[in-house]
Amino acid sequence: MPETIRKDLAAHLQRLDVEGMPSEWFATKQSTERTASLPEETRPVTLAPQSDSAELEAPADLGFPPSEMSALTYDELREMALGCRRCRLCEGRNMVVFGDGKIVRPLIVFVGEGPGAEEDKRGLPFVGRAGELFTGAITKGMGLRREDVYICNVVKCRPPENRTPLPDEAAACTPYLYRQLELLRPRVIITLGQPAQLAICGIDKGITKVRGQWHEFHGIKVMPTLHPAYLLRNPAAKKDFWSDLQMVMDELGLKRPPA
Ligand code: URA
Repeated sequence: MPETIRKDLAAHLQRLDVEGMPSEWFATKQSTERTASLPEETRPVTLAPQSDSAELEAPADLGFPPSEMSALTYDELREMALGCRRCRLCEGRNMVVFGDGKIVRPLIVFVGEGPGAEEDKRGLPFVGRAGELFTGAITKGMGLRREDVYICNVVKCRPPENRTPLPDEAAACTPYLYRQLELLRPRVIITLGQPAQLAICGIDKGITKVRGQWHEFHGIKVMPTLHPAYLLRNPAAKKDFWSDLQMVMDELGLKRPPA
């Protein structure tokens, strides 16, 4: 893109930013251009059949309490989740939404709340309306691809009417989440919304009080932030969400989009 147009566009986007719109989500720069500026280790790679990785079979000891899932490989864990009947959510599900993305040492694992209708239909996390916004933030904002990160939820089956998972449902499902994190060993976990913040950080406070500050989960850095569905209802809060993502980008050495 010619420099003059790039500067005009940047200035325009910055104005949007001032009005509370994280301009980077609407940036027109090609993602390949952004990708080229990523540090070597963060550049997208073509994913081979990932479960063959020896790394995955022998995770570091992150001090997770042992559970019946502790010895399971990623594929075995997924298999177990697909047939899970540990709580009532299995009765209404169409598909188990286990997780999606890079399973060999992803830079980031995003943890949402639970599948919605579209996710339940397709078996993939964040593919509905909130997912569209979320995917835009990853690709246009952070300059990554969905397949460069890993995305999952606190509960793997859709709660009826998209209600918040009940404490016993979350408790039944978190062993899957914890084993996923133990196997994946991401550099950073980003929790999206209150149930994920509670499951990972153990903090039962309003998300607006907790977001934007670093926490830790078994030696992995955690950034709690807002849920994309909340951003659909409160677009002004995108600014806070974007600010949290930028803190993560800084931590990971990902280049910020030009201002
Ligand atoms: N909301 C979530 O928390 N997770 C999804 O996968 C979709 C919507």
